[in-house]
Amino acid sequence: MRFLITGGAGCLGSNLIERYFPQGHELCVIDNFATGKREVVPPRKGLTVVEGSIADADLVNQTFETFKPTHVIHSAAAYKDPGDWREDVATNVLGTIHIANAAKAHKVGRLVNFQTALCYGRPTSVPIGVDQPTAPFTSYGISKTAGEAYLMQSGLSVVSLRLANVCGPRLAIGPIPTFYKRLKAGQDCFCSDTTRDFLDISDFFSLMDDVLKVDAPTGVFNVSTGEGQTIHDVYLVVAHYLGIDPPEVPIVPAGEDDVAQVVLDPSATRMAFGWNAKVNFEDTIVNQLRWYEKYGINDIYSHLAAPSTDNT
Ligand SMILES: NC(=O)c1ccc[n+]([C@@H]2O[C@H](COP(=O)([O-])OP(=O)(O)OC[C@H]3O[C@@H](n4cnc5c(N)ncnc54)[C@H](O)[C@@H]3O)[C@@H](O)[C@H]2O)c1
Repeated sequence: MRFLITGGAGCLGSNLIERYFPQGHELCVIDNFATGKREVVPPRKGLTVVEGSIADADLVNQTFETFKPTHVIHSAAAYKDPGDWREDVATNVLGTIHIANAAKAHKVGRLVNFQTALCYGRPTSVPIGVDQPTAPFTSYGISKTAGEAYLMQSGLSVVSLRLANVCGPRLAIGPIPTFYKRLKAGQDCFCSDTTRDFLDISDFFSLMDDVLKVDAPTGVFNVSTGEGQTIHDVYLVVAHYLGIDPPEVPIVPAGEDDVAQVVLDPSATRMAFGWNAKVNFEDTIVNQLRWYEKYGINDIYSHLAAPSTDNT
């Protein structure tokens, strides 16, 4: 198969390359390296790298024309500057429309989109069923939700996966890399008073293998273990892993742009694909920490504004 992976130099995209390249699929990445890394996509036979933005319709069309993908994995997203609404719209809305139009013109068999759980905004109950209404309130959430809505209107064969926090190689966002880096450096930490769900990359891969099948169900699906853990739970696992007697940490209220509880209900996904997450919370975090131990961490990104605390 011929997979076009938008945002292929990012965390999920590069993991998918590592999964699908050895299987002999032809791959093409389009990435502007806003948060992705050049070194994870060295061009080689069977992997084409196009540097540029999906906001550039001509570049997107040219890429489809040349590569002729059978499948699109749409992983590119802008989020790193929560105040840069124009960039979020350019990538997450316009860029997504460019990808949808080109995929239609080139009769792509299947498009897999990755969606943030922030599309639900502040949910009225958790776990959040996939039928709960979307109500995003951040630039990232709003623009990603608009992008997903256009895809669902496109007439393409689309699977949009609303993802829990996927943990795997090169994860550079969220509490796990932050606690690991700060605790290791002997720096203070704080925990936001929030709950999240965490999914191991192996569970994400097993679902991806299913959704890429041309006759698999289409639509919008939650991808999660369905179990929530507090950020303080994450802190304790990281401290324990590092052999540190965990120092007391301030628990700070969720910031204005944050959501107290995000736990997705994956029951409809289980029914549709017969898929179940297998790796438990602690093992998921420890797998992540083992990766940092071996390869280190560079930049850490966030789509949230920094909370006001003396400990940042
Ligand atoms: N990782 C998760 O747990 C998670 C959770 C929810 C949703 N998602 C979604 O999954 C996708 C991948 O997330 P990730 O964690 O790998 O993030 P990431 O930042 O590592 O990857 C995003 C990639 O998109 C690229 N990009 C940004 N703007 C672009 C543009 N205009 N044109 C081309 N490339 C562009 C970046 O350089 C980067 O390589 C995103 O759509 C994100 O919204 C991820």
